[in-house]
Amino acid sequence: MIRVLLLTCLTVFSLFGATGRELFEQKCTSCHFTQVPSSAAERQKLVAPPIGNVLFHLDQEFKTPQEIKDHIVDITLNPTMDKAICNSVKRFGLMPSQKDAVTQEELNQIAEFLINIIVYSKNTHRGGCSGKACGSKAGHACASQQGGKGGCANCQAKEKGQP
Ligand code: HEC
Repeated sequence: MIRVLLLTCLTVFSLFGATGRELFEQKCTSCHFTQVPSSAAERQKLVAPPIGNVLFHLDQEFKTPQEIKDHIVDITLNPTMDKAICNSVKRFGLMPSQKDAVTQEELNQIAEFLINIIVYSKNTHRGGCSGKACGSKAGHACASQQGGKGGCANCQAKEKGQP
């Protein structure tokens, strides 16, 4: 009986406890916006790459979700120039270490949440992205499209004949 109660409590706590998504929103979105800027003026306001762009680049670079997860945890706690994958490091400079703002355990949850976005956007990529039109690897995440709805912006633009 006690065991059942304990299990119920744990389940209830994990349902109401801070999820990876909430932690991400609390700790990361002050710098990493969740929307891609829609104008040059908005682009000017960026202080860090939007998270969709970060995920897109990490997915291009690494082969497995575990590698991406390890990278997110490592670079967020101990950023160095030679670890940085995103080109935007040239524009924004290195991310300040978030050691004092986030614990390793919270970061694990955040990384798990971010990995799920990549997996989700792959699974929901309408029509699939062969990578032919956009030049990316086949089946890439299109995370920059916030969940892949409507497909990959690069492919769509190229299919419509836009540069
Ligand atoms: C004070 C602003 C700021 C906060 C807060 C912040 N970041 Fe960053 N982050 C940056 C900047 C600037 C970059 C660009 C440098 C780079 O690409 O390495 C970056 C880049 C990254 C990258 C890409 C690193 C790479 O390989 O190039 C990851 C992953 C990342 N941040 C994760 C996080 C997570 C997770 C959080 C929340 C716990 C977070 N960031 C909070 C500023 C921030």
